[in-house]
Amino acid sequence: MRIEGKEYRTIWFEHNVVKIIDQTKLPHQFKIKELKTVKDAINAIKIMEVRGAPLIGGTAAYGLALAVQENNDPEFIKKSAKLLIQSRPTAINLKWAVDRMIKKLAAINSDQILSIALDEAKEICDEDEKFCENIGINGLKIIEEIYNKKKDTVNILTHCNAGWLATINWGTATSPIYHAHKKGIPVHVWVDETRPRNQGANLTSYELNEEEIPNTIIADNTGGILMQRGEIDMCIVGTDRTLSNGDVCNKIGTYLKALAAHDNNVPFYVALPSSTIDWDIKDAKDIPIEERNSEELSHVEGVDENNQIKKVLIYPKKSKAINLAFDVTPAKYVTGLITERGISDASSDGLKELFKK
Ligand code: MRU
Repeated sequence: MRIEGKEYRTIWFEHNVVKIIDQTKLPHQFKIKELKTVKDAINAIKIMEVRGAPLIGGTAAYGLALAVQENNDPEFIKKSAKLLIQSRPTAINLKWAVDRMIKKLAAINSDQILSIALDEAKEICDEDEKFCENIGINGLKIIEEIYNKKKDTVNILTHCNAGWLATINWGTATSPIYHAHKKGIPVHVWVDETRPRNQGANLTSYELNEEEIPNTIIADNTGGILMQRGEIDMCIVGTDRTLSNGDVCNKIGTYLKALAAHDNNVPFYVALPSSTIDWDIKDAKDIPIEERNSEELSHVEGVDENNQIKKVLIYPKKSKAINLAFDVTPAKYVTGLITERGISDASSDGLKELFKK
């Protein structure tokens, strides 16, 4: 998608380094950062220079290729894989991508290993881009249906950033929105600010602005009243891990939005590539929920009059805070799962039907 009119993907490999858009600097500064070692990749995931389930999967894949480039020693690669998987716990895409890389490289001990690792990392990213595009084509039908009935702007609420910046391109939740916009359907997006890290305000609104899609940032607690007033036609969110029974783990606050949507008969859709499905965990209580530093709550970042990024304390110094980064929305509150293969019920039967093969 575009930034200042130029097409980008979120990650690419060039001149022996991995390049990423440093998302900790957005929306105030656009900086491309180089990752030269697997340690750089692990750090980028941990401090969220890259974030969003599919993109951290792509970064982990390239991270492992960097490990091969640094030191093609089986023990080093094994240890690197373990550290990459541990860099953030909730998004299943991370483990999925690392496992796929390890499987690919297991039987190879020729001097082709680096180029095979790089090809596989690129393949993981290319595949994600294609899957996200298909999510958009499938989700477009829902937006079109609403538009055909309403004959007026379709208002869509989204939470966090499940946009192209969270993937390789297109995004998951935003892909149907981009497809609708490209087709000329008038859309307007309510963007949840998404405290504490403000991925909605900082990233979703930014990328929608760059694509000239009308959007309005709201405080996280505003969605309820907008739904009561009939100002939201549908919600679309992303997910970091969806269980085979349709339970959806996503950015903290998603569950509350789904409850409000249920109470107001607003359709609540979740968009995901199949790499985000966890076929193993059966009980949502077993999903590892990331707890991040409470400093993300007690401090906020912005720019001063010289466009310098500054961090300030906003809480009483002695107060304690807890920063749970994800929650789980039970399947019963999810209207449907928009995947690369089509739209399914949020249920075991629905997912089994789509992913028989
Ligand atoms: O903590 P983040 O910013 O990595 O969380 C991102 C989300 O919760 C997204 O909704 C999710 O990863 C889906 S991305 C297409």
